[in-house]
Amino acid sequence: MSLLKEQIERILHACKEAFSQAGTIDELERVRIMFIGRQGHFANLTDQLKGVPYDEKKVCGPLLSVAKSEAHELYEHSKQRIANDAVRANQEREQYFDVSAYTPGIMRGSLHVYTRLIEQLEDIFISMGYDIASGPELETEYNNFIALNIPEDHPARDMQDTFWTNVPGMLLRTQTSAVQVREMKQRGAPIAIFAPGRVYRNEQIDATHESVFTQGEGLVVDKGISLSHMLATVRMFLQAAFEDTTLNTRVRPGYFPFVEPGLEVDISCPFCSTGTHTKGCAVCKRTGWIELMGSGLVHPHVLRSCNIDPEVYSGFAFGFGIERMAMIKYGINDIRLFHASSIDFLTQF
Ligand code: FA5
Repeated sequence: MSLLKEQIERILHACKEAFSQAGTIDELERVRIMFIGRQGHFANLTDQLKGVPYDEKKVCGPLLSVAKSEAHELYEHSKQRIANDAVRANQEREQYFDVSAYTPGIMRGSLHVYTRLIEQLEDIFISMGYDIASGPELETEYNNFIALNIPEDHPARDMQDTFWTNVPGMLLRTQTSAVQVREMKQRGAPIAIFAPGRVYRNEQIDATHESVFTQGEGLVVDKGISLSHMLATVRMFLQAAFEDTTLNTRVRPGYFPFVEPGLEVDISCPFCSTGTHTKGCAVCKRTGWIELMGSGLVHPHVLRSCNIDPEVYSGFAFGFGIERMAMIKYGINDIRLFHASSIDFLTQF
């Protein structure tokens, strides 16, 4: 047998083997290039055919031509086989696909509603030139009560039921007003701060009372500070906080030992009042006003406790519940929701 004829048969045999073993389209493509590609084995045999004697050409020419078309057919069959296998594998996979199976959704975390409100309030106060201040939640009796003009046995201590610790003179602060004392003692006057923070009271919990809640405290001390500064500041910040320039405020006398005079600030009900026109609804108990915070001019005793001369300086302070503000702002009807870790509640904000 001629050498070329032998080569044609050997390569056709190898080609059949390779095509039948190709399991993927990529493998098949590699085999195609190797055998029937432009520089593959069969192209090489065609080149060799040109150089053999006429008699051998007469035998090997038709043989090579048949082998090439057989290789092309093998390629097409293999392609079809691989495609059929893929369809079958897919059908088998789909057979076990459970369309009703539970897939956990991807839940994006977000800031807690009162964290967002605190950040918004901080921005408002920073824009008005205030510094942001904070103090420890474990506080001294002196900063929380005594320096704020509430000595031991003063009846005003009953206004805020206190969590005392085993360490004498140490408590969980009941009000962010304790930060006033720390800041005035440390920085002196003039001073303008906003101090948001957590406070604790040993209270009966209900829809509007928590034993752990957040307060925001404002304090300004400078020469010539009067009630009119406070009223204008409070109105401005509340309008910004509630994003409502028609929001109105009113004050009533209120008692807090560390301010004189002491005032309660109410806001016009954001649910039913516009400007000066008030309708009255269930939220404001048909009065058109909602009680929001305590305030007043810093008592001279407090200034003195903090080494500030009340003959030279005067100031105002105010404090409010941040959850209570969020409840009004977002229409939340139960303060306990803030700490309930309820996904349904939290994802609304
Ligand atoms: C005070 O705590 C004063 N330190 C506020 C103050 C500061 C007055 C500066 C004058 C000058 P009061 O106990 O009223 O005041 O609490 C202030 C606010 O905290 C209340 O108006 C209310 O919004 C909120 N608050 C009080 N108790 C609770 C509670 N148990 N749960 C949730 N919020 C409360």
